[in-house]
Amino acid sequence: MTDTSASSSPLHAFRAPKGVPDYVPPESAEFVAVRAALLEAARRAGYGHIELPIFEDTALFARGVGESTDVVSKEMYTFADRGDRSVTLRPEGTAGVMRAVIEHGLDRGALPVKLAYSGPFFRYERPQAGRYRQLQQVGVEAIGVDDPALDAEVIAVADAGFRSLGLDGFRLEITSLGDDSCRPQYRELLQEFLFGLDLDDETRRRAQVNPLRVLDDKRPEVREMTAAAPVMLDHLSEAAKSHFETVLAHLDALGVPYTINPRMVRGLDYYTKTTFEFVHDGLGAQSGIGGGGRYDGLMRQLGGQDLSGIGFGLGVDRTLLALRAEGKSAADAARVDVYAVPLGGDAKVALAVLAARLRAAGVRVDVAYGDRSLKAGMKGADRSGASIALVAGDRDLQAGTVGVKSLATGEQVDVAVADVVNDVLSRLG
Ligand code: HAM
Repeated sequence: MTDTSASSSPLHAFRAPKGVPDYVPPESAEFVAVRAALLEAARRAGYGHIELPIFEDTALFARGVGESTDVVSKEMYTFADRGDRSVTLRPEGTAGVMRAVIEHGLDRGALPVKLAYSGPFFRYERPQAGRYRQLQQVGVEAIGVDDPALDAEVIAVADAGFRSLGLDGFRLEITSLGDDSCRPQYRELLQEFLFGLDLDDETRRRAQVNPLRVLDDKRPEVREMTAAAPVMLDHLSEAAKSHFETVLAHLDALGVPYTINPRMVRGLDYYTKTTFEFVHDGLGAQSGIGGGGRYDGLMRQLGGQDLSGIGFGLGVDRTLLALRAEGKSAADAARVDVYAVPLGGDAKVALAVLAARLRAAGVRVDVAYGDRSLKAGMKGADRSGASIALVAGDRDLQAGTVGVKSLATGEQVDVAVADVVNDVLSRLG
């Protein structure tokens, strides 16, 4: 039995789990706005929404993401459910999308299948600024057509999403990780190079299992040793090379700036050919605000048809931090448009009715509850960010009017109750 007495004690102050952010007002409005903007960019390019389970069969991620990745070997939230099945809180979205596409036969319909998603993902990483154990992404996957123009579209959608938020202090890094016809030879070449170095046992083992990952080693002495390592980009097959060049030509035509980073190493194993990352310089060590690429073998590996795919995952938490680093805001700072201040019992009823009518007309309205004084009510109005206050006492209502006050100019006029909704709508434009 687990001892639950500590958690049920009234003296125990609960805190969110380590490394897991809460988003509370006013910041939560920014969070929602960032997520909506990134999803909107995908919607405009014809991506349909997919809603996926938060947990899946552990083997899906082990096989899809790769056993030798940090994500699978060290960072998964894996547990046995009550039926003794091993399940894992999703560490990323691509494997789950593939599973759902195969399960629902979407791969048998019109191609490409274009899907977008958003939500939380879970990685047991060491928490630090911008690195969370529950992270939020907006992602897309385009499955079933191996066309470099589609790679460029996916990248351009991410770029447009970031820019629609006013973000501009980021850069796109891109490379090609080759395909089946050139990767095996390159892998051997890299291993040959790595085995010639004076590496410690652990790193040597990594060179054996996943040599690319050694190029991602952050230790200066390893970096120095691997500076002259061969890179995939210099050893691409003709087909992979031409695919990459066409992607770049499309990005040029679309006006999406990029820098080629031949030493890019992604944390997930499924990538082939086009691979990219969006990096923001205002974020310190956790600078990746998004990443993605092609994964042409993934669907087959998960038991489906041999279809290609490409997609991205954009970090909503980090995009929010990036906006803040640029001193920008994605959300309207105002919580409501109108704030109603009733002074007296009848006024309370009348303003509640007006508030409901205004809300039905699409206006955001809040009301001062709790029998406040005029002064306290107006303070609430200021705090709410509203541009209009409605003020009414029982005497006004006997005269059939409500005071409509512009909070920008301080000017107040009496408006007949029946005209208030139209008056407010015309003031708000
Ligand atoms: P990823 O690069 O592992 O790719 O994650 C995508 C983005 O999620 C990162 O660029 C970063 O902004 C954010 N992110 C990742 N881990 C954390 C964390 N611990 N804390 C905060 N933010 C984080 C994928 O997940 C792939 N599924 C993307 C993809 C889709 N590739 C093809 N299709």
